[in-house]
Amino acid sequence: MSHPQTAIGIDFGTTNSSVALALPSGHVELVSFPTATTPTQSSRSVLYLEQRKQAGRTQIKGFTGPSAIEHYLTADPKGRLIQSLKSYLPSRTLTGTEVFGRRYSVEDLISRILSDLRLHAELALQQPIHHATVGRPVRFVGSESDEDDAFALSRLEAAFLHAGFHSVTFELEPIAAAYAYESTLSRDELILIGDFGGGTSDFSLVNVGPSSRTIPRAQRILGNSGLGLAGDAFDARIVRHLVSPALGSTSFERSFAQASDRPANLIPAAPAWIYANLERWHYLSFLKTRNVAEILKSARARAEQPEKIAALITLIEEDLGYQLHQAVQRLKVDLSRHETAHFRFPQLGLAGSMEIERTVSRSDFELWIADQLQSIESCVDNLLQTTGIAPAQVDRVFLTGGTSFVPAVRRIFESRFTPARVRTGNEFTSVAQGLALRALESTPA
Ligand SMILES: Nc1ncnc2c1ncn2[C@@H]1O[C@H](COP(=O)(O)OP(=O)(O)OP(=O)(O)O)[C@@H](O)[C@H]1O
Ligand SMILES: [Mg+2]
Repeated sequence: MSHPQTAIGIDFGTTNSSVALALPSGHVELVSFPTATTPTQSSRSVLYLEQRKQAGRTQIKGFTGPSAIEHYLTADPKGRLIQSLKSYLPSRTLTGTEVFGRRYSVEDLISRILSDLRLHAELALQQPIHHATVGRPVRFVGSESDEDDAFALSRLEAAFLHAGFHSVTFELEPIAAAYAYESTLSRDELILIGDFGGGTSDFSLVNVGPSSRTIPRAQRILGNSGLGLAGDAFDARIVRHLVSPALGSTSFERSFAQASDRPANLIPAAPAWIYANLERWHYLSFLKTRNVAEILKSARARAEQPEKIAALITLIEEDLGYQLHQAVQRLKVDLSRHETAHFRFPQLGLAGSMEIERTVSRSDFELWIADQLQSIESCVDNLLQTTGIAPAQVDRVFLTGGTSFVPAVRRIFESRFTPARVRTGNEFTSVAQGLALRALESTPA
């Protein structure tokens, strides 16, 4: 594909990234990323850094997307696999991390991923790419104010410039999804978009369709809202309720456990902050320090159930964060399809520690995430309230993003708008497709 007026859309997601190219005809193509098996149109937003000795000199080599995971899984010893980088953007305290003794800013790390996305797109397009329309959430993960969002956005822009782009135009991710949905429409509709990703849940109320296209863009958008809570936050609850207890979060010190007159407030064997870090993929790698190792060694010596703390030590020492993430994802995905699912994390057993296995029902999971579902509901209701739109006025709801597969998330919309008005689709690619169409709108013919 080679055309001077091709418009580029890039969706740099918390979990997955996609790139789409739109031709002046409106035809959109997704860029494919090679994997060891079949190519994929959504590339994992991960970075793997490893140290290599070459010609007597030590170099740090980086891999992104599917190749990052492949290198990470086969490497021995393993380097650092960094996930959910987009979630760092609004934080003024987490400005970067040290890897192999070298300091990297968040922008540096993200730019590695973006620069590979650009190279893949250039390969598909057979020409250099200097400009792209890029997605942004309504609210970044962890952002508490408009200033935090502006700060996150300026860092994201810096990462794109660092990755070789000359300029970028930002568009809200749910608006991009609206453009993708609109491309399938032959009539006018007032739609509510719900884009549920790994980090954020975003909503937009937009007029779409043939006659709406003639109205200036700003007038078509009735309102947007969003919150920094989505699939990663659901995963954190699975860790809290299922994984952490198996690794000792609810076990106590032996001296108290054996005492006949147990005090009312028993002392937990290991500190709570360690388990809090287990819940967030992007903090997990911070646990592999000498300080944490010492704390856990002494916790194991004092613990009522030392085997659980020993399993936690193995998890951290063997760097099994990615495998844990996969096991949690598998459970969540299975629960989207079935009423019950089996959680298995065999790698701990393989590493000589105990296995974690448990059957989980969908209703258990829904109980674990109940307050998060409530926050999502409030966010949708607030958008309707502030725009003065009654649910009956909304013609269609379009749900997209990986977390829209969760039945409890879909139910929020089915109960307000009736199942017949809810559409779903292109969960991992609609935002990139819409960004390319948005880019096309501003490309001179
Ligand atoms: N079948 C499924 N059931 C439940 N969750 C799923 C399913 N498939 C994917 N997910 C979740 O969807 C999320 C990824 O979705 P997506 O790729 O849309 O996010 P993203 O665009 O990377 O993130 P964001 O838009 O928040 O920056 C992950 O949390 C993943 O676990
Ligand atoms: Mg997304």
